[in-house]
Amino acid sequence: MHLAVFLLASTLSAITFALDNGEMRTPPMGWLAWERFRCDIDCKNDPKNCISENLFIDMADRLAEDGWRELGYTYVNIDDCWASMERDENGRLQADPKRFPGGIPRLSRYMHDRGLKLGIYGDMGTHTCGGYPGTPLDKIEVDAQTFADWEVDMLKFDGCYSNASEQEKGYPLMSKALNATGRPIGYSCSWPAYQGGLPPKVNYTQLGEICNLWRNYGDIQDSWGSVLSIADWFFENQDILIPAAGPGRWNDPDMLVVGDFGLSMDQSRSQMALWAIMAAPLFMSNDLRTISSGARNILQNKMIISINQDPMGIQGRRIVKEKSHIEVFWRSLSNGASALVFFSRRTDMPYRYQTSLSKLNYTTGSYKIYDVYTDQTTMLKDTTNFVVSVNPTGVVMWYVSAPAKLHERHFYKSGNLMESVHRGDENTIPRVFL
Ligand SMILES: *[C@@H]1O[C@H](CO)[C@@H](O)[C@H](O)[C@H]1NC(C)=O
Ligand SMILES: *[C@@H]1O[C@H](CO)[C@@H](O)[C@H](O)[C@H]1NC(C)=O
Ligand SMILES: *[C@@H]1O[C@H](CO)[C@@H](O)[C@H](O)[C@H]1NC(C)=O
Ligand SMILES: *[C@@H]1O[C@H](CO)[C@@H](O)[C@H](O)[C@H]1NC(C)=O
Repeated sequence: MHLAVFLLASTLSAITFALDNGEMRTPPMGWLAWERFRCDIDCKNDPKNCISENLFIDMADRLAEDGWRELGYTYVNIDDCWASMERDENGRLQADPKRFPGGIPRLSRYMHDRGLKLGIYGDMGTHTCGGYPGTPLDKIEVDAQTFADWEVDMLKFDGCYSNASEQEKGYPLMSKALNATGRPIGYSCSWPAYQGGLPPKVNYTQLGEICNLWRNYGDIQDSWGSVLSIADWFFENQDILIPAAGPGRWNDPDMLVVGDFGLSMDQSRSQMALWAIMAAPLFMSNDLRTISSGARNILQNKMIISINQDPMGIQGRRIVKEKSHIEVFWRSLSNGASALVFFSRRTDMPYRYQTSLSKLNYTTGSYKIYDVYTDQTTMLKDTTNFVVSVNPTGVVMWYVSAPAKLHERHFYKSGNLMESVHRGDENTIPRVFL
């Protein structure tokens, strides 16, 4: 793959039409209840964790007070099990009156007063996956209007209890109905996750025209095996998925489980790094009231967030798969920059992986490298061999600035960088990041 050719192709794909609601020009970020809190409705015995307005208020307070909102984590998203089992006398959905005594409008006001947004969950079908009232075809318009009247900012539209032909009508119809309300509402479609097939039997062109993001694959669970299986599926199908993504239209590999129980710190760094490479929506599903400082530091890493949020919105790809079980991922970023992730699938010990930027098809030049997890900066010539030490199931992640031609080196010298250019030492291996 020649970088220049790929850049041109991806730029073209990024200007294909996206859902024209002005929403989510970069991947949405926030918090989503499902993976961590599921369908816990036992507020009598588990009042702190049950699906109730208190849970969303608690998370909103944490987002607003603990530095998350300023980093872009602004959505507070309700998932399944929020609704009353009965529609109201006008046939409209209503929140469970015991668990959401203020209804959804009070929650959306609460979010908006704090500079946050509220997301809600519905299901294209007779019932939600959890058995609550769904949105069959004849209820799509009234439900879209209800969500708009409640001033919600995003809808996740699941697909349990409907068949393929109903979904083919329902997902585009909901897009139209949301548009007709006049309220910009980010639209997350679970449609492809219900179509399946390898390669996925999905019209991604159409999807990008009607949805802002879509779940392509099964639900994430709180385990490394789950994170790895999702990442593998996305990168195995990258040639189909990458052209589908762009500003306003995103592939969604599902929630971040960093801060829960299943991932080690290295695995948490890997999930965050790979999700940034994929230009994935960053919806955390964790307990922000009790999250560890280690997990918080990963999720609040400014450089990784800015890589994820790059305005060009070009989804990255796997470029190397070594027999040593090291994989390299690359994402093209604005201003001629890029991101690299060196990932180890190994389970033995830190692996010393040797390569060079030219082996990764970088063009001739001298590059400023910023290691996003260690905050170290250095300079690398494209031809210089280097070694990265990658922990088992872990990553090393770099932000690589645009190349300076060799005669432009003074440009870097004038900055206050910790410069360590390796001149004329191509035969030795500088231990740059050990
Ligand atoms: C570099 O480019 C060559 C030629 O197009 C290609 O065969 C190779 O797979 C590319 N390598 C990487 C790491 O992208
Ligand atoms: C509805 O669609 C039109 C045409 O695509 C677009 O200009 C407008 O901004 C959309 N409105 C909302 C609220 O999404
Ligand atoms: C899908 O479900 C609808 C409503 O139950 C039914 O009328 C239709 O025949 C079904 N279509 C297929 C292809 O199963
Ligand atoms: C996919 O959707 C696009 C846009 O709606 C449409 O023009 C195209 O014909 C569809 N492709 C197939 C194979 O159905």
